[in-house]
Amino acid sequence: MAADLSVTFTGLRFENPFLLSSAPPTESDSNIMRAFDAGWGGVVTKTIGLHPVTNVAGPKTKFLRATPDSYHLSMEKRPGTALHSSWNWELISDKPLDWWLPRLARIKQAHPDRILVVSIMAGSGSDKELRNWQTLATQCQQAGADALELNLSCPHMDRKDMGSNIGRDEGLISIVTEVVKQVARVPVWCKLTPSTTDIVAEARASFLGGADAIVSSNTFPSIPLINPDTLEFEVNVDGYTSSGGLGGPAILPQSLAKMAQMTNAFPDRAFSGVGGIGEFAHALNYFLLGCGTVQVCTAAMLDHAIGPNVITALKDGLRQFLERNADKGWRTLEDFRGLRRDRIVAHSQIKRPETKEYHGGHETAEGYAAAEDVEKQL
Ligand SMILES: Cc1cc2nc3c(=O)[nH]c(=O)nc-3n(C[C@H](O)[C@H](O)[C@H](O)COP(=O)(O)O)c2cc1C
Repeated sequence: MAADLSVTFTGLRFENPFLLSSAPPTESDSNIMRAFDAGWGGVVTKTIGLHPVTNVAGPKTKFLRATPDSYHLSMEKRPGTALHSSWNWELISDKPLDWWLPRLARIKQAHPDRILVVSIMAGSGSDKELRNWQTLATQCQQAGADALELNLSCPHMDRKDMGSNIGRDEGLISIVTEVVKQVARVPVWCKLTPSTTDIVAEARASFLGGADAIVSSNTFPSIPLINPDTLEFEVNVDGYTSSGGLGGPAILPQSLAKMAQMTNAFPDRAFSGVGGIGEFAHALNYFLLGCGTVQVCTAAMLDHAIGPNVITALKDGLRQFLERNADKGWRTLEDFRGLRRDRIVAHSQIKRPETKEYHGGHETAEGYAAAEDVEKQL
């Protein structure tokens, strides 16, 4: 029997669990159509907003590469290097809502069986800004969006009431989510920033607001490296740079750590994993931690802009994985989803050598000697 790659996530049926994330690969209808032709199960559009967008006068994204057998890292393009990360300071889509709406409808008409998630963003500092979320939500779902992803995570926003500044404020997260849920007829996903101390708090705030799923991670705040010869930042405009976002292989373990915190805290909720995925083994980490879908950006950008080889390898990887594990009775992703979630435990629960005991700093717990007595015995 052929392996079944399909999944149902927030009530939507995906042909496979692999999506392009909100980023340059999904910045136009032509890209999205090509992505569906290449086999992606779904896409999240580049974030759409209502305010005018003007990007910096220079490259918006660059790629940091490592030289093997050395510590050398640089954005300079050179042969024989390995990808370390992407770095970007690109804003949301510079195309207005009116440009997007007929295109969303055309994409959905051409690919009724593929899942079209529309990423939206507005401010949160006034009732007018909150109504902008509702305008974006109603118009995009009317045009054919299967789900809405709320961008609460763009890392390079000066406005205090937008992007990752919303994602750092539990109250605002709940309010924005609730406002969108009031008008949404389709599932609402919240994309959170990894740049907070306890992402479980932001996930809780999203669910309190009515979120159907959490998406994580957006890029991690970072700045470009300084070239030691020129003393210039590797990305700069007239010598100046600004905080941007790191994506790609470098963020995979960090993004997984954020995801693990949330899937452990809310094992029955829906999560879409993103950050550092380039091949099936990476995606498998997210699935084993409990994610029902995953999303890709950097690896797709570097593969013909929409990742035809990446999606083929991801689907082949899942197919082969299911076939290899058929004897365990695994037929679909659901059969192994979350299987390693409970293997992440408190540090003190990790086994110590037989002769030593460790109580995680809780030495005064009932039945144990006080810390100073233990010291004396050593
Ligand atoms: C150039 C660029 C532009 C991006 N634009 C958006 C965006 O508009 N909205 C959004 O939610 N995330 C945006 N992202 C973040 C990605 O969707 C993704 O969360 C992040 O890059 C981590 O995934 P990766 O490691 O596969 O790149 C952007 C990323 C890059 C590199």
